Amino acid sequence: MRARQRRWRHETEVLSFIIKVGLYCSLVVTGYLIGAVFQNDPNVSIYNKIDVSANGDWIQINKGDEEKPSNSPSVLCWIATAPQFLQNRASHVKSTWGKRCDKTLYFSSVTNTTFGAVGLNVTEGREHLTAKSQEAFRHIYNNYFNDYDWFLKADDNTYVIVENLKYFLSGKDKNEPIYFGHHFQSIIEGGYTSGGAGYVLSKEALRRLAEKGDDKILCRQDGGAEDVEIGTCLHNLGVTVGYSHDESGRSLFHCFDPISHLVGRYPEWYKKFDAAGAQKGKAYMGNDAISFHYVKPMDMYLFDYFLYHVKVH
Ligand SMILES: *[C@@H]1O[C@H](CO)[C@@H](O)[C@H](O)[C@H]1NC(C)=O
Ligand SMILES: *[C@@H]1O[C@H](CO)[C@@H](O)[C@H](O)[C@H]1NC(C)=O
Repeated sequence: MRARQRRWRHETEVLSFIIKVGLYCSLVVTGYLIGAVFQNDPNVSIYNKIDVSANGDWIQINKGDEEKPSNSPSVLCWIATAPQFLQNRASHVKSTWGKRCDKTLYFSSVTNTTFGAVGLNVTEGREHLTAKSQEAFRHIYNNYFNDYDWFLKADDNTYVIVENLKYFLSGKDKNEPIYFGHHFQSIIEGGYTSGGAGYVLSKEALRRLAEKGDDKILCRQDGGAEDVEIGTCLHNLGVTVGYSHDESGRSLFHCFDPISHLVGRYPEWYKKFDAAGAQKGKAYMGNDAISFHYVKPMDMYLFDYFLYHVKVH
């Protein structure tokens, strides 16, 4: 009797093993098939479309005197800053590109009414940027949700060409659960966007993040890397990274300053993470560029000067 039971148990174990192996194999095959589909994702090999030998005309960019699209969306921008950076960083955003958003908010951990900074109940420091973004988006949702179409997050060393951001968004649907920025193809399925290059949430994306982003299982409330955590949270809420290049596949949101992208002065991690293969040179950079990161405070005035003041004859 015992022996028969043992044999029976042995047989069911063998059977269950065979079923597990079968399941595993079918998962591998499915994974392969999904992988094959993603291979055709336009985000992966977008630069195939570009004729690198063509001399992209960098100078013919918008000086603000072109006709604005009639369906120009309204954009709220928020800048992640801190008490010690109000004067030496955020004030220069405020004097330059920060003026051009329909509404600009500066989020810190301490309210400063002289500057106009909103103090959030968060701890300062690089490791607490996730909480700052979560709180900032909730604050925006509670106070400004009905007034704007799109919601951009940037750092106090990001430079944004706001007109080009609006031009890019004018063809997009704010009711889609989508966001745009510099696309990193890593860590999360579908990737995420760089925090420093700035990322812009649709109205629907903001609604989901603010209403459901406090779910501690779907979204980390603090810690980790801000852009990875917000990206994971958005992904878990069904918000996807939209195609953030121009029609020829050239970049619009940039993780570094213009010179770094022009000459390819990139750190090693960037070569691994960049969804578009960390290409360099103006042939890969869109004429309708939207943002740059690691911009020195004084360079913001330089960019303003060349973009909005210099006329080329
Ligand atoms: C508020 O910010 C200004 C800079 O714009 C700074 O001079 C001032 O000391 C700040 N106030 C406090 C209380 O931190
Ligand atoms: C600030 O956050 C802490 C920790 O999350 C919480 O205990 C405290 O009640 C909060 N304070 C306010 C004023 O919301």
